Amino acid sequence: MPAPFRLFAIVCASVVVSAFAAEEWKVPAEAAAVVNPVKITDAAVAAGKKSYVQFCQMCHGATGKGDGEAAAALTPQR
Ligand code: HEC
Repeated sequence: MPAPFRLFAIVCASVVVSAFAAEEWKVPAEAAAVVNPVKITDAAVAAGKKSYVQFCQMCHGATGKGDGEAAAALTPQR
């Protein structure tokens, strides 16, 4: 794609993205209607906790408040 058209495409894309960003985001109805395929058992909860501690807690924190150690390196800060 020639450079001027590429720039035009990037400008158009960023206008579209910022228009969406201005609206309050709501969960789409089809996503809200999704049923958890995992049966809630003690084993499933324990496995989820293990995954959370391994992959999520570093940012989201031990109680999900976003105060994990790695969150300090993210911007913007809240
Ligand atoms: C590198 C840091 C980091 C890691 C690791 C991380 N997250 Fe996040 N997560 C974020 C940030 C930053 C946001 C955006 C928060 C915001 O803008 O409000 C976010 C947002 C989310 C949200 C949306 C929350 C909301 O209220 O909209 C969910 C759900 C989420 N993360 C789940 C997870 C899960 C599950 C894992 C582990 C598999 C995980 N995250 C790992 C940094 C991280």
